Amino acid sequence: MTGFYIHWPFCAAKCPYCDFNVHLRENIDQQQMLDTYIKEMEYVFARYKTPVSSVFFGGGTPSLMSPQTVGAIIDKIQALWGFKNDIEITLEANPNSSEAQKFADFKQAGINRVSIGVQSFNNERLKFLGRIHDGDAALKAVSSAAEIFDKFSFDLIYATPKQSLDEWKTELKQALQFAKGHMSLYQLTIEKGTKFYLSEARGDFVMPDEDTGADFYEVTQEIMSASGMPAYEVSNYAANEDHQSAHNLNYWRYGDYIGIGPGAHGRLTVNGNKIATRVHRAPDIWQQRIAEQGHAYEQWESLNDETQTHEKLMMGLRLVEGMKLPETIARTKIDTLCDEGFLLKDGELVKPTRKGLACHNAVVGYLLGGSNIHAAA
Ligand SMILES: C[S@@+](CC[C@H](N)C(=O)[O-])C[C@H]1O[C@@H](n2cnc3c(N)ncnc32)[C@H](O)[C@@H]1O
Ligand code: SF4
Repeated sequence: MTGFYIHWPFCAAKCPYCDFNVHLRENIDQQQMLDTYIKEMEYVFARYKTPVSSVFFGGGTPSLMSPQTVGAIIDKIQALWGFKNDIEITLEANPNSSEAQKFADFKQAGINRVSIGVQSFNNERLKFLGRIHDGDAALKAVSSAAEIFDKFSFDLIYATPKQSLDEWKTELKQALQFAKGHMSLYQLTIEKGTKFYLSEARGDFVMPDEDTGADFYEVTQEIMSASGMPAYEVSNYAANEDHQSAHNLNYWRYGDYIGIGPGAHGRLTVNGNKIATRVHRAPDIWQQRIAEQGHAYEQWESLNDETQTHEKLMMGLRLVEGMKLPETIARTKIDTLCDEGFLLKDGELVKPTRKGLACHNAVVGYLLGGSNIHAAA
């Protein structure tokens, strides 16, 4: 399987928790962006030709793209690489009304799934998160997506300061009424370099401690399972296989993906080697380099076996379906994690339990050389 990721690096405002590659611009020249993406695609196509099985417009805020730009990119990918049957083409959207109004045009352009950054339906929480939409706009965006698309998802952020477990339970149960098969639920994380990083350090707010975070995760798993949308990945929930995100599953199964646009990463198998690619993060430099030399890749290099094993585990053990662990992983460590209830064996597969999903990083760290699972979990 080969996924295709397009990074749109612009947003209308910068959210205080976000450390994605995001830039603010008064005016965006859509034609110039499109021309640059197309040139970049031609560069990649000369080096990698496997047909594409999913496309994902991520950001930033790709719902700020014009439907014409989106349509032209989809057409170009299809013309160059070709699409596998039943291709999933997702666009991340913010719930602002001007963007939700474009949903029908995005569908016309070829998008068949949207992922909406709702974050919360509660106005106070949205304000704390620095969002520029309110709960009403979120509701409208979600109901418009439900009407237009057979598949859509929305994101919520939980375990925020001052949020009680009971408040979250109520919010989540309400939100479930608007879901149509898929949700992504993320615990708020404080990332270095964000406004929230400074605010937390100043003592403007206090984040829930680790035990409370674990309680939030546990009630989330319980509510989602009871509602018929169990986790299929650490933070992703779907009613059935059909609603799972094919594009993201391909990342977690360590499939290939092409990444274009500022800051995008890719993993490509070329002549049996797994190549890691990374594009320059700054939109202006990206544009200039592509105009001058046809690409803006800062990295295009083979990964050694050790790095590939690390990446495979980091990705694969996020999935409830589990994975076949490489032979290089010590069997005694796997047994210890099974005995301690972090993993379970199912034939050739090793699967994380709910406890294993909650401690994903610790589990992978232990398998890759850590000496004590309890110190890390
Ligand atoms: C690429 S981001 C943003 C997509 C879209 N621009 C938006 O904001 O709605 C994808 C998702 O990551 C989640 N996210 C980003 N930063 C986060 C953080 N620090 N903690 C928890 N979730 C985060 C949000 O739920 C967000 O919708
Ligand atoms: S959370 Fe979304 S809208 Fe906010 S800055 Fe990040 S990418 Fe942009």
